[in-house]
Amino acid sequence: MNAATEQEGQQGHVESRVFNPPADFTANAAVSGMEAYNALCAEAERDYEGFWARLARENVDWQTPFTRTLNEDNAPFYKWFEDGKLNVSYNCLDRNLQNGNADKTAIIFEADDGTVTNVTYKDLHAKVCKFANGLKSLGIKKGDRVVIYMSMSVEGVAAMQACARIGATHSVVFGGFSAKSLQERIIDAGAVAVITADEQSRGGKQLPLKAIVDEALAMGGCDTIKNVVVYKRTGGNIGFTEGRDIWLSDLVDNQAAECEPEWVEAEHPLFILYTSGSTGTPKGVQHATGGYLLWAALTMKWSFDIKPSDVYWCTADIGWVTGHTYIAYGPTAVGATQVIFEGIPTFPHAGRFWETVQKHKVSIFYTAPTAIRSLIKASDADEKVHPKSFDLSSLRLLGTVGEPINPEAWMWYYRNVGGEKCPIVDTFWQTETGGHMITPLPGATPMVPGSCTLPLPGIMAAIVDESGADVPNGQGGILVVKRPWPSMIRTIWNNPDRFKAGYFPEELGGKYYLAGDGAIRNKDTGYFTITGRIDDVLNVSGHRMGTMEIESALVANPLVAEAAVVGKPDDTTGESICAFVVLKQARPTGEDAKKIAAELRTWVGKEIGPIAKPKEIRFGDNLPKTRSGKIMRRLLRVLAKGESITQDVSTLENPAILEQLKETA
Ligand code: WTA
Repeated sequence: MNAATEQEGQQGHVESRVFNPPADFTANAAVSGMEAYNALCAEAERDYEGFWARLARENVDWQTPFTRTLNEDNAPFYKWFEDGKLNVSYNCLDRNLQNGNADKTAIIFEADDGTVTNVTYKDLHAKVCKFANGLKSLGIKKGDRVVIYMSMSVEGVAAMQACARIGATHSVVFGGFSAKSLQERIIDAGAVAVITADEQSRGGKQLPLKAIVDEALAMGGCDTIKNVVVYKRTGGNIGFTEGRDIWLSDLVDNQAAECEPEWVEAEHPLFILYTSGSTGTPKGVQHATGGYLLWAALTMKWSFDIKPSDVYWCTADIGWVTGHTYIAYGPTAVGATQVIFEGIPTFPHAGRFWETVQKHKVSIFYTAPTAIRSLIKASDADEKVHPKSFDLSSLRLLGTVGEPINPEAWMWYYRNVGGEKCPIVDTFWQTETGGHMITPLPGATPMVPGSCTLPLPGIMAAIVDESGADVPNGQGGILVVKRPWPSMIRTIWNNPDRFKAGYFPEELGGKYYLAGDGAIRNKDTGYFTITGRIDDVLNVSGHRMGTMEIESALVANPLVAEAAVVGKPDDTTGESICAFVVLKQARPTGEDAKKIAAELRTWVGKEIGPIAKPKEIRFGDNLPKTRSGKIMRRLLRVLAKGESITQDVSTLENPAILEQLKETA
């Protein structure tokens, strides 16, 4: 074993295996060895603003240089580099044309059916400029919001970059969300246009996009929308509303291939991305331009050690934050060559990821633990799709994101995909943080399976108790970040109060950013392990969902009187959704229950999107409640796991109900 010193296996739940970065990796790494890491941390401690100012000057091209680094006057509404001006698309595209990357491949597009299209930086620049000019011709201007509802495509990335080029704020909505979810986001954002495709191609199937946009707009309330721009992906049959809808090709084909970037203030909102919280409707996380771009570029170098010769592949979707920072912006900001994949990991077979790594000689591969776990299962069942059946020798670095990775999945990834020679960066971060926060640096940090190890230099992550006091290592608590950082969320769109109360709660002193996760630090190493959300947010296959959202969707069904949703641990998806439902009619049983459960699942799919469909639905005459009427979710979580209840149920008004709720419909 060249890279690792494998110590004892797992003792209880304390993971004691340690894997050092390979020496040759460290030798050439951007951050080479722990001394280099510690030196960066010390620099940030010594002169926090000076540290970020230096990095912002080195990593971002400013049209107007900033003179003020951090403005904390109106905390927690922090401002970074506020008097500087820049353009993100200029930094991601024009800069590469000047750096000698014009003919370098920016994107290797691997379509669902395996067709490959290469796009150089010069091509991408022209595409984005034409797109930007097209949007301008529709009257779209700086500060307008544009919703993007598209599948994985070069055009999806170009749409985002085109918005950035003209200073329009984009809001990408994941293509798996329903018409209703799309409509809610369009209304909240007050968008002037939607950019979409006729259909998307996934797993050999054509799935509607434009039809869903039509449905969303027909629901009403979207009066701000003037145009729908449609990229022809499949050529499928779609409806067209004259005057409102326009084909992308008609919009851009005759446009000039140059477009002067709109120079915006560093704090100008680059995008809004909706994500789930523990209460209420999804919130529009607003990111700024300057600090965000710095983060995207910097973490490509720090966490991914990106080099000019790398072929980088992040398997996320542009509908999620990972697809923003680590597909649309980060790789282009550093002039990388990246694979963009349209399809799904199991089509035409479960070896698709490994086959694609082999085909494009991918050197950096970034995916989610859920994908790894499902591919472990598939390759256990069929040797032909096992990573060993492919040539993965091009790989030099692996990464994971989105959910905790269990040590066994980490080990499998390390051995079978990385051939024990690739460091794994287990990157902890959130939609709100804009980019990586706690992660190993691949040429420095000794890795421990299941731990995201240490914060990036300058990130003042800590674990506190409920009063905001530090807890000692070895004792679990609440994960916070004690100082603002450049790529942090700026506010919740339309809802600054919710931003302040939710992320900088008074109970913690009003100054710490509350991540919403629990964590524990190792007694000896100080390494962080994320223990999961401390609020009512579920993480299913790395997708964030609020229990409240799913409950509201269920009770909106005319059959349902009451519903409570909890997460249940799941071997593959991390967590799965288990819903406890009380109907207005008598509690159904047998076939009847199955039929209604199927109906409710479809319903939730329509209300939110297929990703929110409960895996299990259980019917009761009532829900377990205290005498004051509070639903005892704690008990529901135990029931969902199929464990017997050992807790005190004396405060429960209706203990008999528990028996009913053990049964899945
Ligand atoms: C979880 C995704 C453990 C966490 C980038 C966080 C993780 C939520 C990790 C954010 C990780 C993300 N280890 N848990 N490496 N990465 N999470 O906003 O609970 O979709 O709060 O951003 O995912 O999910 P989001």
